[in-house]
Amino acid sequence: MRNKRRKFDDDDSDFLKISRLTPALKEDPDLPEEGDRWSTWDGALHGPEPRPDWVRTEHAAVDTELGMLKTGKEADVFLVRRAIPGTDRISMLAAKRYRDGDHRLFHRDAGYLEGRRVRRSREMRAMTNRTSFGKEMIAGQWSAAEFDALGRLWQIGRESGLVHVPYPVQLIGTELMMEFIGDWETGEAAPRLAQVRAEPDQLADLWRQMTDALSVLARAQVAHGDLSPYNTMVHQGRLVMIDLPQIIDVVANPRGAEFIARDVHNVAGWFRQRGLPVDAEELTDRLLYEAGLR
Ligand SMILES: Nc1ncnc2c1ncn2[C@@H]1O[C@H](COP(=O)(O)OP(=O)(O)OP(=O)(O)O)[C@@H](O)[C@H]1O
Ligand SMILES: [Mg+2]
Repeated sequence: MRNKRRKFDDDDSDFLKISRLTPALKEDPDLPEEGDRWSTWDGALHGPEPRPDWVRTEHAAVDTELGMLKTGKEADVFLVRRAIPGTDRISMLAAKRYRDGDHRLFHRDAGYLEGRRVRRSREMRAMTNRTSFGKEMIAGQWSAAEFDALGRLWQIGRESGLVHVPYPVQLIGTELMMEFIGDWETGEAAPRLAQVRAEPDQLADLWRQMTDALSVLARAQVAHGDLSPYNTMVHQGRLVMIDLPQIIDVVANPRGAEFIARDVHNVAGWFRQRGLPVDAEELTDRLLYEAGLR
């Protein structure tokens, strides 16, 4: 391995630890002078248009791995800089790499596979029998599902201005690369809502953003499906939802209303514990109405 990177698995800290400051030695003439590899943009599936202008689509762009941001239950998230050497055309990407079945928890897979109805039976068998091909496929389906979900919510956010998710830059197999939410200069990720110590004013503002976002989602008849103070980041005062592979179509899914209620409950509890008297029941009722389920 050319790049031996330290693994950072420190749950208390979301700060990036830069694992390597000096570029690796380049013996291979096919590698760029700087960075770790040429940008993988060309061979990838791309996010929705109109593309933000910071997305680097140029052939001359190179990718540099800056280290691991976070290990999760199902994926590891890395920070990658994609830039054109010698220019200020820089983008910072979070690369979420889903693990295969040997290295991740499967708690979401059963229900998901049920809902998906994979037609080709060889693939279905591989997944239910958890062969290595099947495991790779499940991981690939999760990354593809999250890529789609981010694209969809990003567009809903663009139209409404009330929902914020990282822009999905590209997908290749089990790796999803999206907009890095944090400080692009220092590589410090934004805090998750769970870690934010908010003054009463800010708390009320964050709750308003949360209810606005949930309202827009309800009217689009989707639920996050795993919403929590851990799957929400706060960047420059703005609420950003992450971790979306399981978004729920609340009309098609027979448990749609349950998912809406659970999402509300999970976040409302956090706000209430911090002293904001929020009414989860009332919000749930309103969202069910907005989704057309009442
Ligand atoms: N776009 C992003 N920008 C910055 N940091 C991110 C981004 N996406 C994810 N992270 C960081 O990585 C963590 C894990 O991401 P995510 O929740 O999507 O994965 P996960 O495997 O479901 O993790 P977990 O099991 O902890 O929920 C997040 O809590 C956040 O700290
Ligand atoms: Mg998560």
